[in-house]
Amino acid sequence: MCSDDNNAFYENPFVKIPLMVTGIWWIRNWFKGTQYRDPDRIDGKIAVVTGSSSGIGKCIAEELNRRGAKVYMLCRDREKSEKVIDELVQKGCDEDRLILRIGNLCDFNSLKSFSEKFRQDERKLDILVNNASVIALPKFNKTIDGYEETWQANFVGHVVLTEMLLPQLKASESARIIMTGSRLHFFGDTISPEIANEPKHYGRLLPYNRAKLALTMYVRGLARRLQEDRVTNVTVNIFHPGMVNTPLYRTTPFKKPIISHILSPGAALIFKTPMDGAQTGIFLACSPKVEGITGKYFDECQETRPASQVLDDQKVRQIFGYTRNVLKSLGI
Ligand SMILES: NC(=O)c1ccc[n+]([C@@H]2O[C@H](COP(=O)([O-])OP(=O)(O)OC[C@H]3O[C@@H](n4cnc5c(N)ncnc54)[C@H](OP(=O)(O)O)[C@@H]3O)[C@@H](O)[C@H]2O)c1
Repeated sequence: MCSDDNNAFYENPFVKIPLMVTGIWWIRNWFKGTQYRDPDRIDGKIAVVTGSSSGIGKCIAEELNRRGAKVYMLCRDREKSEKVIDELVQKGCDEDRLILRIGNLCDFNSLKSFSEKFRQDERKLDILVNNASVIALPKFNKTIDGYEETWQANFVGHVVLTEMLLPQLKASESARIIMTGSRLHFFGDTISPEIANEPKHYGRLLPYNRAKLALTMYVRGLARRLQEDRVTNVTVNIFHPGMVNTPLYRTTPFKKPIISHILSPGAALIFKTPMDGAQTGIFLACSPKVEGITGKYFDECQETRPASQVLDDQKVRQIFGYTRNVLKSLGI
């Protein structure tokens, strides 16, 4: 075919339209990311999912319930979360295995109350998904416990909750702790708690990156401590969900009405849905393929390399030591 014939061929609407549709379908599928489709069941397992009133956490809670687990949804807003439970039940979840508990990662006392009640209700915990998060808060806020809000919601709060639930995790035949991390941990400039909790070092994205970096390092530190203590039945891993269209970005410029309107057609193509973003978390919670794997960072249902600071043993010891002091101050 000469080039004129070629052009005419591609200009033909019966060729052009299917080609465009195939192209868009291919791009969409690529951005959707890896789907965890193995039919693994987790009947009888007990799970706790933080921040399950929205986005990725809601989808993780839904899928763990569908696969047979009893899921404790640890959320901060009762009214909103009750509506979410109604919605999940409408979608086919088993209501008797969806239990709402109110707790705020930015209030250690509420986490303590949750843990104490959980201990009365359940002998063991099989799956803990530490997922709650805030990003890009417009200004520096200190929590009731004295930490910068992003630092506590993403990092310190989850450390405290994990350590309070460790006895129940150890009582499980095989327990998994899963953290929802972020690729933005690569941009964490420091893990210094002094800097993280100091207003003059505050920026819109920096606190989030620092907190996710500290959390990713804590995962390595905790995995090592469990191995040193010969705890072989509890693993801990962290994952990046991808770029997901959720309310997380509500305080960023992307969600300003005009910008959001302009970006929405492109965003629909390149952002994952919350269920797509939940896939690696569900994989880590359910798949026998990751049994025994611990201290690792996952993306697209695969182990991958985290930022170099996470692999720096001295820095991991430093941040892990910091968490020991926080816990000691709380008598844990
Ligand atoms: N979306 C993305 O592109 C993306 C990318 C990388 C990583 N992630 C990570 O994915 C996870 C889930 O985020 P998402 O995108 O699903 O966001 P989301 O829809 O905003 O969900 C965040 C959840 O955390 C809860 N939460 C926030 N602060 C809390 C606190 N102090 N105590 C208790 N719960 C609290 C929120 O509760 P309310 O409903 O009451 O607000 C909500 O349920 C986060 O760890 C996030 O860092 C997301």
